[in-house]
Amino acid sequence: MKAFQVRAPFEFGLAQVDMPQVAPGEVKVDVAYAGICGSDMHIIHGQNAFVRFPRVTGHEFSGVVREVGEGVESLKVGDRVCIDPVISCGTCYPCRINRPNVCTQLQVIGVHRDGGFSEQVCVPAENAHRLPDSMSLSHAALVEPYTIALNVLDRMQPHPGDSLLIYGAGVIGLTLVQMARALGMTDITVTDVLDTRLEAARALGASRTLNGKDVDVEATMRELTQGEGVPLIVDAACIPALMPQMVRLASPAGRIGLLGFNTVPSDLVQLEMIKKELTLVGSRLNNRKFPKVIELIASGKLQVRELISHRISFDEMPSAIDLIESHPEQTRKVLVELNGALQ
Ligand SMILES: NC(=O)c1ccc[n+]([C@@H]2O[C@H](COP(=O)([O-])OP(=O)(O)OC[C@H]3O[C@@H](n4cnc5c(N)ncnc54)[C@H](O)[C@@H]3O)[C@@H](O)[C@H]2O)c1
Ligand SMILES: [Zn+2]
Ligand SMILES: [Zn+2]
Repeated sequence: MKAFQVRAPFEFGLAQVDMPQVAPGEVKVDVAYAGICGSDMHIIHGQNAFVRFPRVTGHEFSGVVREVGEGVESLKVGDRVCIDPVISCGTCYPCRINRPNVCTQLQVIGVHRDGGFSEQVCVPAENAHRLPDSMSLSHAALVEPYTIALNVLDRMQPHPGDSLLIYGAGVIGLTLVQMARALGMTDITVTDVLDTRLEAARALGASRTLNGKDVDVEATMRELTQGEGVPLIVDAACIPALMPQMVRLASPAGRIGLLGFNTVPSDLVQLEMIKKELTLVGSRLNNRKFPKVIELIASGKLQVRELISHRISFDEMPSAIDLIESHPEQTRKVLVELNGALQ
């Protein structure tokens, strides 16, 4: 069968690989759609320390169950599903306190084991979520990026009426805008350095956008909040040098959600954090957020279509990778169709 394989950093392409064998407790899925994510690009660049090569990537995907392994009762052949990529052990400390997304034995589908850029893939049955009839397989492939947004916002414990500042209007920033709206937030500012991305943020519900190349974001936000600062700040730009500004801009009792995987240190000032009693929360992947996001999409509360900039066939995937690299301003979510999306 055909799969998109990263053989080594910067060495990637479509390859013929062996059909996977379904193990007890797993289901085999015919993949319909899979989204290309920034994390896939990091794997291609050799910047993900967890990956062993060769690897079939892809952690945002949907499909149809083709085969069920021994002992699987929750799903049957023909069920339409999307896949939560988080596999946890269930017994380590984070698992015991219901934080399985930071399991000490964490396995991420498409990172630690082969993923969705493949005509077929086997996944634990409990990771496959059945879709409501009203939800398309193409939208189902994008549940995962929305779970990133929901996870970080939940970790930040928003209060009614809180204003939100989002750094970065890439796909994650845009899912954050939509998720914040769906959760009832109305005062949402987004900052980026690309006008095309800020336009998308406004179209999806940002109440204000600031291009960091044109305006002094810190001074503007300080003025807009009459010096009080912002209660909720999310870093979806993930540039370590921006963190001190976020700490300065946070209001007393503010919460800052951090998503970056960068290894470069940031210069944070203790006094700023302690005098305002700030909460800095990391957020990784998602903690069982699939059911809620599926419900939000099925009820029309998230505008999935607006997130997608390109729909391509599986054969076009290598050239789409080049496009994402060379023209980030032209791309949002690139959605790959596999198996002719099952005809
Ligand atoms: N923690 C997690 O679970 C998780 C999951 C997914 C993605 N991420 C991370 O989230 C980040 C965002 O992902 P993405 O797919 O949206 O990436 P992206 O590269 O599309 O988006 C980043 C955006 O930040 C903007 N930016 C650059 N400099 C800026 C500045 N000075 N101020 C404001 N914005 C600026 C870029 O123009 C871009 O639009 C990535 O670093 C990714 O690794 C984390
Ligand atoms: Zn992703
Ligand atoms: Zn565990």
